[in-house]
Amino acid sequence: MCGIIGYIGDKEANDILIKGLEQLEYRGYDSAGIAIIDNNQIRINKVLGRVQNLKQRKLIGNIGIGHTRWATHGKPSDRNAHPFLDQRNNFVVVHNGIIENYLELKEKLRKEGITFTSDTDSEVIVHLISQNYHGNLKEAVLKTVKELIGSYAFCVIKNDWQELVAARNGSPLVVGLGKDENFLASDVSALVEHTRDVIYVNDFEIVKIKKDQVKIYDFEGNKKDYNIRTIDWDLEQAQKDGYKHFMLKEIFEQPKVVEESIKIKFGLKKEYSRIIIVACGTASYAGLVGKYLIERIARIPVINETASEFRYKDPIINKNDLIIAISQSGETADTLAAIKLAKEKGAKTFGLINVIDSTIAREVDDVVYTRAGPEIGVASTKAFISQLVTLYKLAFYLANKDTESDDQLKRLKPIIIEALSLNESIKKIAEQYYTHSNFLYIGRNLSFPLALEGALKLKEISYIHAEAYPAGELKHGPIALVSEETPTVAICPQDQVYDKTRNNIEEIKARLGKVISIATIGDERIKEISDNIIYIPKVEEIFYPLVITIPLQLLAYHIADLRECDIDKPRNLAKSVTVE
Ligand code: M6R
Repeated sequence: MCGIIGYIGDKEANDILIKGLEQLEYRGYDSAGIAIIDNNQIRINKVLGRVQNLKQRKLIGNIGIGHTRWATHGKPSDRNAHPFLDQRNNFVVVHNGIIENYLELKEKLRKEGITFTSDTDSEVIVHLISQNYHGNLKEAVLKTVKELIGSYAFCVIKNDWQELVAARNGSPLVVGLGKDENFLASDVSALVEHTRDVIYVNDFEIVKIKKDQVKIYDFEGNKKDYNIRTIDWDLEQAQKDGYKHFMLKEIFEQPKVVEESIKIKFGLKKEYSRIIIVACGTASYAGLVGKYLIERIARIPVINETASEFRYKDPIINKNDLIIAISQSGETADTLAAIKLAKEKGAKTFGLINVIDSTIAREVDDVVYTRAGPEIGVASTKAFISQLVTLYKLAFYLANKDTESDDQLKRLKPIIIEALSLNESIKKIAEQYYTHSNFLYIGRNLSFPLALEGALKLKEISYIHAEAYPAGELKHGPIALVSEETPTVAICPQDQVYDKTRNNIEEIKARLGKVISIATIGDERIKEISDNIIYIPKVEEIFYPLVITIPLQLLAYHIADLRECDIDKPRNLAKSVTVE
């Protein structure tokens, strides 16, 4: 999703802004731009495509803002790239989020003689600020936010004004504090190179930043206190360490992540009659594994809800329900809205979140951090495994079996390392299949959410069409897709449904489908019905999802790499989805 960076200080803003935008690239974007004040003139450099392209020009000045855009309104183009100027070139704005009433505002502004230079919803903000300005920039922003409906974090600078002014309602914003310089960003990763001291801006707050002063106000203009937080991860954690892609590095970090996530402790009461898990994408598939685990281990009924559906379906939420949000970024708009709804209805909310102090982490009643560390690749890998470990821990905790389970979980780290040693053999399988256009993924029981996750990984980064089904559903329709051209990844560990899944594989073979089986080491019988086998280490049945995760990620990775895809920044995708 879009990224924002802002700088005010004594240094040249150009390189600081561009570097900041490079740190935000992982969020996904299609165009980028910066604006810098140079002798009371606003200069703009904005381009379609990569941040890298901004380096062809150098702007001069010590106050500036920058943006990476992920198109929502108006196609990706130079014209629709941020920042946006008002008609007199006095104000310039960058914006994340969606202004829902922009058409109405555009119409009104047009009647007042404003000509728009883009097709975006964002441009209305700068024209409104310009109209509302009567000598004080913060006051102009205060008036403007009253006219806006939607979600936003925006930042404005004025040609002859030594201040950045920003407002937040629904999209992340963080201030970075330096010595005689201050920063603003949508994400701490853009700030860590300069400072560890940050202030998280809350919804309905306006922040006024000078090089030596930060003031925060509510939307009524009242001054507010703020807390300075110290962030504890550094830039090195966000580098590739010699791996070709962040995704591969993050896959190989998983043994460490498992070790870290095992340390999580819960303080939650155990009095809930029902649990509802809300999440999106990969986090929702972790949630589905969580459902199987909590129901099996703790015998508490669990409902899984896709957050974007949950928020609009008038869900039944009881006061003694526990609503669990799972999110890597902690900024996913739909998951956040689902949590807000649950709180309104009086339920207890609990977050399994990776990014510390993110919006959802601050919104929920209680939070545990999943401890994956910064995840840069758009395709979630290590965050997924950390969510799984956290859900195992939660299930055992709710069943009062934490102590014995910790011993079991601790034995998993060397097994994950063993699974990673499959890398080269999986690459060879990828070489055989990377030209195919369609894949099926099947699994039963605990392996079904893994099939969903495996298919999502493949489609996200390789752009291959992949469908996942519970293996037992095959005959109810999808078996019609089986042919020599459509390989199936069959997840078939030696668990209680092994024979059932095996039967489904037989059905595929009978129809000449190619099968890549993920099976337990030592399973000789699977050879008769598989074209390729990825043998995973043997573990206690309930822990197979943790082990199966690895070959699914590696298979998707190598197929995408062979297709020369932009693995860390797949087309159309954003790392944190801050608009609905
Ligand atoms: O930050 P979140 O965990 O809330 O994000 C949820 C999904 O957007 C995310 O998992 C998405 O599906 C990933 N690209 C999957 O790799």
